[in-house]
Amino acid sequence: MTGTGGAVSHPCSALEGEVSAPGDKSVSHRALMLAGVAVGETKIDGLLEGEDVLATAAALRGLGVEVERTGPGRWQVHGRGVGGLVEPEDVLDMGNSGTAARLLLGLLATHRLTATLTGDASLRSRPMRRVSEPLSRFGAAFHGRADGRLPLTVVGAGAPVPVRYELPVASAQVKSAVLLAGLNTPGETVVVEPSPTRDHTERMLRHFGACVQREEGGVVRVAGEPELVARAVSVPGDISSAAFPLAAAAILPGSRVTVTGVGLNPGRIGLVETLREMGAGIAVANERVEGGEPVGDITVAWRPLSAVDVPPERVPSMIDEFPVLAVVAAFAGGTTRMSGLAELRVKESDRLGAMAAGLAACGVAVRESADTLEVEGGRPQGGVGIASRLDHRIAMAFLVLGMGAREAVRIDDIAPVATSFPGFVGLMNGLGAAIEA
Ligand code: S3P
Repeated sequence: MTGTGGAVSHPCSALEGEVSAPGDKSVSHRALMLAGVAVGETKIDGLLEGEDVLATAAALRGLGVEVERTGPGRWQVHGRGVGGLVEPEDVLDMGNSGTAARLLLGLLATHRLTATLTGDASLRSRPMRRVSEPLSRFGAAFHGRADGRLPLTVVGAGAPVPVRYELPVASAQVKSAVLLAGLNTPGETVVVEPSPTRDHTERMLRHFGACVQREEGGVVRVAGEPELVARAVSVPGDISSAAFPLAAAAILPGSRVTVTGVGLNPGRIGLVETLREMGAGIAVANERVEGGEPVGDITVAWRPLSAVDVPPERVPSMIDEFPVLAVVAAFAGGTTRMSGLAELRVKESDRLGAMAAGLAACGVAVRESADTLEVEGGRPQGGVGIASRLDHRIAMAFLVLGMGAREAVRIDDIAPVATSFPGFVGLMNGLGAAIEA
């Protein structure tokens, strides 16, 4: 029934237990990349060993960086210093990861080298002009397909000039690409963001010794040509992965689940705020700062949920959590309205379209517009097959839906889950789920 790579999520009863989430994907990519341009040996602990991050490690090796796994989640990187990356002999395959591709294009744009990046069918369909356009202003040239998508060749600027760039969309990836390009550029590079997005790049740049300043009005400045010095990095658990067991606890009566050691960066915790507004029982404990990032343990205890309106200004702080929030909304009393979702259309899949179609197939009443989604809550019927569309979060969201639906939900291909959450099925089943892979 499951077929190669498929899975079935059967309805189950309450979830119970304490788990830790895999390492944060955003922080893992940045840790490897910044270690690669720091001077000396960086030791990383808690690195996400998902396919996306392994692709970043492989790309850095292709650029002359020594990257070595020394134990589970433990990695050692011998950096080449700012501006020290070398021309790769082969195409760099970034797999499924938009973050890896865009941030690396940023670094490469101000190196005197030529490199070609590609990725899987999902990544090759995603917009890259949003980075090639600002990176061209440093003096880099881009050659590729007419639509600007991968495969894409970057010819890095030999004599880069600093840039001041106002982001047309709230995107941490674009902000980060520009800041990373600013490293091997004399003078000051400035990015202005329309609304705040995750600031992992800024925090980690400071951790490695760069001078990064944030001012009123979303202005972020990085001083060029810093000497980045190798530093130990401890990667927090990924709140975007923790979201799945926590959301499952929120919809299954009687559940209580704790995820320990989760990153609580203010630019990432919109889902926690939203679940709280919906009425879920939420507690955060053991709050601390590790490696410049706030971390804590999150517990969700089931309580009856009510629908909410999610305001557009909250979107960047939960941009990757809308698939699972849409599932939670399908179990909440009333109609949940989400707006400002245009960016969801250019993620690993068109997530707005995928959620609307998948929820409708599961018997949920939904309304979709160009950038909004409305979901009427109740108890979804399920009993259908859903295509994961090369999108890990679509696969995991519908596996969570199956746990609370009247009938099982089948996913055609859960292989993409390995990009961000290796061990997802085992972890969920350990809490009481009944997922057959
Ligand atoms: C990420 C930023 C977000 C997010 C992605 C990871 C990052 O993308 O969707 O999964 O690590 O910077 P945008 O900033 O482009 O919205």
